[in-house]
Amino acid sequence: MAIQIAPSLLSADFAHLADDVARVGGADWLHVDVMDNHFVPNLTLGLPVVESLSKVTEVPLDLHLMIEDPDRWAPAYVEAGAGSVTFHAEAATAPVRLARELRSLGARAGMALRPATPVEPYEALLPELDMLLVMTVEPGFGGQAFLDLCLPKIRAARRLLDAHGLDLWLQVDGGVSLETVGRCAEAGADVFVAGSAVFSADDPASMVERLRSEAAAAAD
Ligand code: DX5
Ligand code: ZN
Repeated sequence: MAIQIAPSLLSADFAHLADDVARVGGADWLHVDVMDNHFVPNLTLGLPVVESLSKVTEVPLDLHLMIEDPDRWAPAYVEAGAGSVTFHAEAATAPVRLARELRSLGARAGMALRPATPVEPYEALLPELDMLLVMTVEPGFGGQAFLDLCLPKIRAARRLLDAHGLDLWLQVDGGVSLETVGRCAEAGADVFVAGSAVFSADDPASMVERLRSEAAAAAD
């Protein structure tokens, strides 16, 4: 299981995004949080910013759509340059159709679960996905405390993936830091989003590598 680190630009300086993107060039993905002030009580950025970001970096963009009606909006993020697009299970009307559309456009398809959403009802549609995102905070803001109550769901998701022989990536997002990344890796996560931990560090690039080593050590 390869460990991947995706710094979240939510904690970057929005007036100097290209500079902050350049500071984490060793990351596997750049995690971009789209919020619409309806699905979550916060508003961030949309298609034009994603399009511009894709032009200033070789690191692939991992879009996390915290929006209503992703069935309508998600495909456009592939056209805007995303390599992976994750929609929320709670917001999608037709998740299977949407995942197929994202894949047919050439992106990886991800589905996210809020802390109170169980994974079991989605067991049958996991083969339609490339990534499952287990949120470890309530989505909407960076810098929140990691919710340990999500660890059993990470374990349950890992068991389901293994039981079906699926090679989906299992992503965690929210409160991931040097202190918590090991717990997530031990529970079975392999893609780690970190916003405040990376961008509040003196050296974001070296924080990416430290998170990677901590996760790898715990996953062994
Ligand atoms: C929160 C976002 C996260 C956020 C994580 O809803 O989805 O990607 O940036 O920030 P930290 O790592 O600071 O919890
Ligand atoms: Zn996110």
